[in-house]
Amino acid sequence: KRPAGAPDKALARKVTKVGIVGAGLMASQLALLFVRRLDVPVVLTDLDQERVDKGVGYVHAEIDKLLAKGRVNQDKANRLKGLVSGAIDKAEVFADVDFVIEAVFEEMSVKKSVFADVEKVVSPECILATNTSSLSITEMAADLEHPERVVGFHFFNPVAVMPLLEIVRGERTDDATLATAFATGRSLKKTTILVKDSPSFIVNRLLGRFMGEVGRIVDEGTPVPVADGAFAGVAPMPPFMLLSLVGPAIALHNNETLHRAFPDRFYVSPALERVVAARKSSYYGPDGGIDPE
Ligand code: CAA
Repeated sequence: KRPAGAPDKALARKVTKVGIVGAGLMASQLALLFVRRLDVPVVLTDLDQERVDKGVGYVHAEIDKLLAKGRVNQDKANRLKGLVSGAIDKAEVFADVDFVIEAVFEEMSVKKSVFADVEKVVSPECILATNTSSLSITEMAADLEHPERVVGFHFFNPVAVMPLLEIVRGERTDDATLATAFATGRSLKKTTILVKDSPSFIVNRLLGRFMGEVGRIVDEGTPVPVADGAFAGVAPMPPFMLLSLVGPAIALHNNETLHRAFPDRFYVSPALERVVAARKSSYYGPDGGIDPE
């Protein structure tokens, strides 16, 4: 059954090679998903060789885990590893890609300049997908020569496990792009939904309200472990553990975006700001443990 709002699948174009901009936490999880489910070449790009090597190394290590669990056989593991590569210079490796997804720093100017660079080296039909979790697709596409091929393709962490994919249509996204996004999402074995191009889409907008309120509880003096403990058996993961999984900087950025858009409804926690300012990866653990006071 066609998901609500999805165009006719006959319009979808086949994806034969994927380019990923970024080789960090989300980007390397995306590389694993794309190579595993589409079985096509996937090339990761980043600013320096160290990051690229780390991203490719992550994918290889995860394929080894799949092999150890018996989810893929040795031949398939070898083939999948051979399909994943990394590069710094996009010009050569992106010349024949037909689907690019970016998962770089969550900042509009950075994402716009990534797409402007990519547009110079890919074909006019190549899809430009963004894994942004909160920013406007229409704005991201606005200055491009071909804004009709830009689409939001928002995954959740851990990418291998979370079933949902939010697909976002910008004002100028065309039907062929959207149909390709839905067909690709299905091939990736995700549940695809079409969401409006509004701040933080659906899931992160809801999560922003939830995390804002839990942040307020901690800011009012409840210790983090007590707040987390209150969720035992209620949610799949306690809120501050989830915040550490997602990354405090991303969570803060999400709440700031939502607060700007809907100031009366969204709360930006000073404790969360302190965690991010101190470059901690969580509220607790060896790298965390801030005093919520
Ligand atoms: N990376 C990859 N795979 C992972 C993983 C990770 N970080 N964590 C767990 N898994 C895999 C495990 O390997 C295991 O796979 P197999 O069945 O193949 O062995 C499977 O997930 C289940 O793991 P566990 O049994 O160890 O753990 P669990 O039952 O406690 O489930 C969880 C783990 C699925 C992560 C669960 O805790 C959960 O659903 N947490 C909530 C996650 C969530 O809400 N994510 C959305 C965050 S918001 C976001 O991402 C949006 C954004 O833009 C910021």
